[in-house]
Amino acid sequence: MTAHAPGATTRHYLMCEPTHYTVSYEINPWMDPTRATDTALAVQQWRTLRDTYLSLGHTVETIDPVPGLPDMVYAANGATVVDGVVYSARFRYPERQAEGPAYQKWFADRGYVTHTAAATNEGEGDMLVVGRLLLAGTGFRTERSAHAEAQELFGRPVVSLELVDPRYYHLDTALAVLSSDPRDPQIAYYPPAFSPGSRAVLAQLFPDALLATDDDAAALGLNAVSDGRHVVVAPRATHLADALRERGYEPIPVDTSELLKGGGGAKCCTLEIRE
Ligand code: ARG
Repeated sequence: MTAHAPGATTRHYLMCEPTHYTVSYEINPWMDPTRATDTALAVQQWRTLRDTYLSLGHTVETIDPVPGLPDMVYAANGATVVDGVVYSARFRYPERQAEGPAYQKWFADRGYVTHTAAATNEGEGDMLVVGRLLLAGTGFRTERSAHAEAQELFGRPVVSLELVDPRYYHLDTALAVLSSDPRDPQIAYYPPAFSPGSRAVLAQLFPDALLATDDDAAALGLNAVSDGRHVVVAPRATHLADALRERGYEPIPVDTSELLKGGGGAKCCTLEIRE
């Protein structure tokens, strides 16, 4: 094992308060519309997450939640932003389709160059920047043709990874970027969520990666947000927290259990704006 946490860098995040949060449809195995949701608790947990970022010195901006779009709280799906260029999301399911233009407008209104996606893609849910690379998920939501579109737009190599377990339907549910530093990129992931070929690719690119356990993955522990040192992580992912500490990271447990009913955790609620 190598690796000491390379160190924190200040981040710029976009989030969406879960004012209209509920689970009214079912598009992933975590969602059960017959189970009650507590919107006030979701808002409270979301505010704690936002305040955690602020206390770490990061900048958090917010987009207004739109009534009738309960999944808008999962801001990571709203776009992918690299070098100040915005690749819009184009959602797979009709229930979420209006979110893509809402997020794109937020960026356009603030003067960002935005690119309207031709291919189905669910933003940073399936596109993670690590070092100079983009790791891109497919299998459940984002189409492979979106990987090519993103590579052309950003001019960064995109590595396609095939997801095979429906519980881990977005890349950010099965893989966390711990350090995006190009000199020492580090990730954590859950191998069974990937096809054999994709597992081999990850093992080649990241031989020292932290491998999550079944329990870490089931707690959605990989849906974590790292600034290069502090890692905001689900409190139930205890093995992952210990393993992070051993590598010099500082795990910061933040409970997002109410938002887990929609199939998301801390990372899902957090879109990184990379200038
Ligand atoms: N209910 C949402 C969906 O299934 C959850 C999205 C979670 N977001 C994420 N980045 N994984 O689309």
